[in-house]
Amino acid sequence: MLKQKKNIPPKKRTKKDISEKSIENNNSMVRITSGIGNLDKLIEGGIEKNSTNLLVGGSGSGKSIFGMQFLVEGLEKGEKCLYVTFEEKKGKFFRHMKRFGWDLEAYEKKGLFTFLEYTPVKVKTMLEEGGGTVESIIRKQKTSRMVIDSITSFALLFDKELAKREAALGLFNLIEKWEVTSILTLEGKPLTGTELNSRTLEFESDSIISLYFLRHKHLRKRFIEVLKMRGTNHSKEIYRFIIGNKGVTVANKPTENPLNK
Ligand SMILES: Nc1ncnc2c1ncn2[C@@H]1O[C@H](COP(=O)(O)OP(=O)(O)O)[C@@H](O)[C@H]1O
Ligand SMILES: [Mg+2]
Repeated sequence: MLKQKKNIPPKKRTKKDISEKSIENNNSMVRITSGIGNLDKLIEGGIEKNSTNLLVGGSGSGKSIFGMQFLVEGLEKGEKCLYVTFEEKKGKFFRHMKRFGWDLEAYEKKGLFTFLEYTPVKVKTMLEEGGGTVESIIRKQKTSRMVIDSITSFALLFDKELAKREAALGLFNLIEKWEVTSILTLEGKPLTGTELNSRTLEFESDSIISLYFLRHKHLRKRFIEVLKMRGTNHSKEIYRFIIGNKGVTVANKPTENPLNK
C-alpha cells in the first residue's frame, strides 16, 4: 500500500522552518542537514524534513552516537530536540556525549533539549492513548527533531506477528502526525532479518541507513550504507566512517564492499 503522505500538499512554512538551513530542490522537497560529517552529500543535501528514518546496526555500531549527533545539529541552530530512550541512563549518557563536545546539560537548561527515559510499556500505552507524554512534549515545545533509541525492545513486547505489525504501523502513523524529523534506531541486520516486525518497520520508514562494525583479520572497521531513502537519488556505495572526538565522520570516498570479504 502506498503511503498517503505523498498526496498531502506541502505544509505552510512556519518560523521554525526559516531558522533551519533547509535545502529545497526542484521537487520542493525540504531537506535538513543531518549533522553527520560528510553524510549529506550522499543523500542530495540532507534528510527530508518530517520524514521517519530507520537507523539499523548491531550493538556498538554507533546508533546512539549518530542519533545524538543528528539532534546536536538541530540544538546548535536553536531547534527543540527530543531523545526518547529505553536503554540509556541520563547521567551516564550525558557524560559520554560530553566526550564529543556536546554539552547536553546546557542545552537542557536552555530548554532546547529533552531527554526522556521511557519504557516499551509506556510506548504501548502511548499508542493506545494516541499520543501521551511524548506527544504533549512535542506539541508544547514544537520539537523539530526526535530520536527514539531504540525501538527494538518495543517490538519485543508483542509476541504475535499481527500485533507486532499493527504496533509498528501505529507508531509510524503517530510519528507522521507529529511533524518531526525522526530517527528510530533498530538493533539488527536489515537484510537478513526475517521477523515481520522489522520488515514492517523497514517498509514503513522513509529511509534506512545501516551501520556495520566488521572485523577483517585482526581489526574491526566501521561502515555505513544508505539502503533506502524515498525521493532521493542517494549513494549506493558503502563508506567507511569513524567515531572520533567530534562524533561520526563518514569517509570522503566509498570503499569496496566489505561484506563480500
Ligand atoms: N569518545 C569516543 N571516541 C571514540 N569512539 C567511541 C567513543 N565513545 C564511544 N565510542 C565507540 O562507540 C561505541 C558505542 O556507540 P553507540 O552509539 O553507543 O552504539 P550503539 O548505540 O549502536 O550500540 C563504543 O563501543 C565505542 O566503540
Ligand atoms: Mg545504543
